[in-house]
Amino acid sequence: MLEISNLNIFHGNIQVVWDLCLKVDEGEMVTLIGPNGAGKTTTVETIIGLNRNASGSISFGRENILGMQPYDIFKKGLVLVPEKREIFPKMPVIENLLLGASNQNESESSLKHVYALFPILQEREQQIAGTLSGGEQQMVAIGRALMSKPKLLILDEPSSGLSPILVAEVFRSLENLGREGMTILLLEQNVRLALSMCLRGYVLENGKIVLEGKAKELMHEKHIQKAYLGI
Ligand SMILES: Nc1ncnc2c1ncn2[C@@H]1O[C@H](COP(=O)(O)OP(=O)(O)OP(=O)(O)O)[C@@H](O)[C@H]1O
Ligand SMILES: [Mg+2]
Repeated sequence: MLEISNLNIFHGNIQVVWDLCLKVDEGEMVTLIGPNGAGKTTTVETIIGLNRNASGSISFGRENILGMQPYDIFKKGLVLVPEKREIFPKMPVIENLLLGASNQNESESSLKHVYALFPILQEREQQIAGTLSGGEQQMVAIGRALMSKPKLLILDEPSSGLSPILVAEVFRSLENLGREGMTILLLEQNVRLALSMCLRGYVLENGKIVLEGKAKELMHEKHIQKAYLGI
């Protein structure tokens, strides 16, 4: 579904990602893990068209989307839940969710799906989003992304800033989404969690993929155990 080949990305004149190759097949949950500053956010911002200062190719379906405008990429079904969530704090939950719908005719069925996945959002439908807990705000951000019925959902560090209990709650919902067949690319620093949930993974360090493979096998790699799992 998504196939990235030899992607080089720059911020101004400075190169931050080198020769990145990565693919996500339909129905797969794949993780891109790496420490602070590795280039995870830069990579997804390039995938969704926010940074076009890049070379290589990003195929989605059969089309090379590198260089396309963000809105055109969004319409193809590629949706990002951003690192900073970017919900509208002064608006109620329901209005935040409805903003994510790309097709008003489908918004009712999308809303049903989001509420089935996150029942708490239905209970809190009229609550001002900025007064929700961090985990609930993350659910609003994921819910809003789901409102447009994406083909590929990309999540940029959904665990960031959440307590362990809230992380577990958010990840349980992501697992349910995966079981429903949603194709997911998950960017994470929480390596243990990401590898336990996804089928395959890529490890990005200093802008380069240093390891890739089945999540179960990565979990047993010496480098992963030492650098990320504290074993
Ligand atoms: N707009 C920008 N201009 C210049 N450099 C940038 C810009 N955005 C990011 N960088 C640099 O690119 C590198 C990769 O940053 P990026 O945000 O992609 O990392 P990350 O893996 O998402 O890290 P984190 O886990 O902390 O979110 C860093 O060295 C960062 O300082
Ligand atoms: Mg980031």
